[in-house]
Amino acid sequence: MKKFYLTTAIDYANGHPHIGHAYEKILADVICRTKRLLNYDVHFLTGLDEHGQKVEQTAKKHGITPQILCDSIAQEFIDMCTFLHISYDDYIRTTQPRHKAIVRDILQKLFDKNDIYKAEYTGFYSTRVERFLQEKDKVDGVWPENEFGQVMEITETNYFFKLNPHKQWLIDYITSHENFIFPKFRAKQVLEFLREDINDLCISRPKNRLAWGIELPFDPEYVTYVWFDALINYISAVGYGTENFSEFWPVDYHVIGKDILVPAHAIYWPIMLHALDLPMPKTFLAHGWWLCSGEKMSKSVGNVVDPLDYAKQFGPDAFRYFVIREMTVGQDSDFSHELFLSRYNNDLGNDLGNLVSRTHNMLQRYCKNTIPKIAPLESPENDLINLWSKTRDSTLDAYDRLQFHTALEDIFTFIGAINKFLEIRAPWKLAKSDKPKDRERLDTVLAVSSEAIRLAATILAPILPIVSQQILEIFQVKAIAWGKQLEWNNEYLFNRSLSADSIILFPRF
Ligand code: MSP
Repeated sequence: MKKFYLTTAIDYANGHPHIGHAYEKILADVICRTKRLLNYDVHFLTGLDEHGQKVEQTAKKHGITPQILCDSIAQEFIDMCTFLHISYDDYIRTTQPRHKAIVRDILQKLFDKNDIYKAEYTGFYSTRVERFLQEKDKVDGVWPENEFGQVMEITETNYFFKLNPHKQWLIDYITSHENFIFPKFRAKQVLEFLREDINDLCISRPKNRLAWGIELPFDPEYVTYVWFDALINYISAVGYGTENFSEFWPVDYHVIGKDILVPAHAIYWPIMLHALDLPMPKTFLAHGWWLCSGEKMSKSVGNVVDPLDYAKQFGPDAFRYFVIREMTVGQDSDFSHELFLSRYNNDLGNDLGNLVSRTHNMLQRYCKNTIPKIAPLESPENDLINLWSKTRDSTLDAYDRLQFHTALEDIFTFIGAINKFLEIRAPWKLAKSDKPKDRERLDTVLAVSSEAIRLAATILAPILPIVSQQILEIFQVKAIAWGKQLEWNNEYLFNRSLSADSIILFPRF
């Protein structure tokens, strides 16, 4: 089996889960579920970023220890993942011994190789982004307060990781590997950053300023800079330094938000890996941001959408559907309550939910709750079958190209076509006739619609895992890997008895 390793960003432990975190996990989950259904051996890693000044400060504000804060926030994030059916295989927390040991190993290795040196540095520090700022971070001559918060000039002796010796190598690597950064337009942004000299990365914080971190193995007066620590989770979680490591590494996708591509992921991380003689990640997938009326969601503006509220009210699959349908991977998207309701009621309630329940009801009423035989086909049936093969091909292709919104568009066009097919064939009228030909047609129409619904549910599984399973359970079908399961098969459901209970997949609100 081919291996597939995917990671998400690890979330900061200083705040509660919101739609941005939820979206990233759902996107990652959809990719992983797709790969599993295509028979890959998937390893899906997510987790929590627990060190740093922000966590220390938040804990202090609440009068608790950072570890207690992290434990309770970890639980919130894990609960969110469970609720949204995020099928992760491993959840890493940067305070775990397995992670800390590897961070220290790597620091020692780089220190021994002279890639890390000690120096006095005077610079402008932003606590909000937890780093020294550079001239190029300025906009119109100032560091924007909404991005960096309060900026302070400080002089400190610290440890630095050399970046410049790897700069030309990184430029060449990015230019010669077109799949390294997705979407492609973001690679330009990275190359732009690399145009000028880059400052070496300050990878330590003196303990008198920050105690909540991983102690440097070669100087107990210092802890590790949170980003240097956090990035290493991608290799510490899969056994860096052990034999198993090469089974996973290089990673297939690092799924992250666009805000943390430059400099952390696309500059620091490849250089850290290069300094350690490790292969590069295959692809950085930088998704866009969820906005509210075009603005960044922020607690102070009071427009933070709590994903769990929507998931709880409308069901986790409805929420998954909405975020995947509305966001083109890589672009920003606006969250709106009205749009959510309209997608829920129209696409999910009317088009999918009603189709399933009325087909089920008719099979109960007219066919003794058993899937009948498909008689010779005529053009409405053939048209639907042909549309399925086009839909399947375009959907699999869209899944592969990470165009999940177009995949959903195509699947729902197919679902619309099943509804139209029922309108044209009007089985409720055929049921009133005594003619054997009409009876045969009635059977065919309901069997064909059932097969079409089975296929739609099967291909929707990565995005709507629970609803897909509920639909397949009506037909007493087990969800298994794709392949043959996605081929139209007139025999597949024949003679199966259906589950007796009618279900409402998407109750009206
Ligand atoms: N801890 C760092 C990541 C370290 S990875 C080695 C961090 N954490 S975060 O909690 O601030 O963000 C986690 C992820 O959520 C990031 O990929 C970020 O881009 C994403 N999002 C946070 N808000 C978002 C939106 N409003 N919309 C979409 N995703 C956004 O950064």
